[in-house]
Amino acid sequence: MSYQPASTRYDNPAFYRACGNSGLKLPLLSLGLWHNFGASDDYANSRAMILRAFDLGITHLDLANNYGTPAGSAETTCGRVLREDLAAHRDELIISTKAGYDMWPGPYGEWGSRKYVLASLDQSLRRLGLPYVDIFYSHRPDPNTPLEETMGALDYAVRSGKALYAGLSNYDPEQTSRAAAILRRLGTPCLIHQPRYNMLERTAEQGLFDVLRREGIGSIVFSPLAKGMLTNRYFAGLPKDARAARDPRFLTPDQITHELLVKTKKLDTIARDRSQTLAQMALAWVLRQPAVTTALIGASKTSQIDDNVGAIKNLNFSEAELFAIDQVLAS
Ligand SMILES: NC(=O)c1ccc[n+]([C@@H]2O[C@H](COP(=O)([O-])OP(=O)(O)OC[C@H]3O[C@@H](n4cnc5c(N)ncnc54)[C@H](OP(=O)(O)O)[C@@H]3O)[C@@H](O)[C@H]2O)c1
Repeated sequence: MSYQPASTRYDNPAFYRACGNSGLKLPLLSLGLWHNFGASDDYANSRAMILRAFDLGITHLDLANNYGTPAGSAETTCGRVLREDLAAHRDELIISTKAGYDMWPGPYGEWGSRKYVLASLDQSLRRLGLPYVDIFYSHRPDPNTPLEETMGALDYAVRSGKALYAGLSNYDPEQTSRAAAILRRLGTPCLIHQPRYNMLERTAEQGLFDVLRREGIGSIVFSPLAKGMLTNRYFAGLPKDARAARDPRFLTPDQITHELLVKTKKLDTIARDRSQTLAQMALAWVLRQPAVTTALIGASKTSQIDDNVGAIKNLNFSEAELFAIDQVLAS
């Protein structure tokens, strides 16, 4: 069945923000394909989520070499949707991928060597069926490879036309400053940083956001819903189709504690007073940070994407609301 995108998808120009000092605009919400887009997931549902996101103006899809079960299969799924449904819209999309985590056996299958990073990019392009990605990231810093070598690989990726922009993920403030200086010297400025940031994980506030603002680098914050914990997903027990039950590699049922639920139910009350769901308030909360360009959500069904896009109806917080949220988080 042939797909026609919604004609309303760009009706809200305020849905796009410049990424740092660059000319590239990103949507306030981006869709990540880490979970629920692999070969072991239902293709029709994965496709429906990508197309629903595009219909809502979400122009950015985030991937990494290792996403999906098995690793790499989220890129294959995305490649199929790009080929079969979105081929006419490639220039409306920002597709990113990354290299850094364990991908293939032997000494060249992970971390930050030029050998691994560039071989991985070629593999990603083959799975995606694309000649280039828009953003290519170093997924994590490598303590055993000179930073110049890893940044040189990102610079080469851009110069060779296999990526349009370079990004960093999981680099601390000091590593980010050094990497940004090297990239600037090479003539490929760092576009974007991808840190974890949400109400329950605020490390990025301790120096990273300052570095990003000083350097003019944008940021795309991952797991803004704490993998589902900052939503009403677990309020009535552990649903069989929720991440903690289905794929507990990164979110285990024992992380859904009584204390967490007490806290998140109090946050839910604050969200209701703002006429929002807890998920919507959690997204608005990360977007209140001036250093944050876009919130990188995951989803397991289209209705979650619909709910999350509703966050933009109320992005403002009063001092009293922010204080009340901090009080709950500290309790
Ligand atoms: N750079 C890195 O190292 C790194 C690391 C992790 C993630 N990422 C990126 O960040 C993306 C997002 O990560 P994440 O999936 O952990 O993000 P998240 O947005 O914090 O969590 C997504 C999960 O929350 C639940 N959810 C989403 N919207 C909901 C709603 N409106 N109501 C109720 N539940 C809702 C769903 O859980 P259920 O599945 O249970 O329904 C969904 O799978 C990844 O896909 C990836 O692109 C990057």
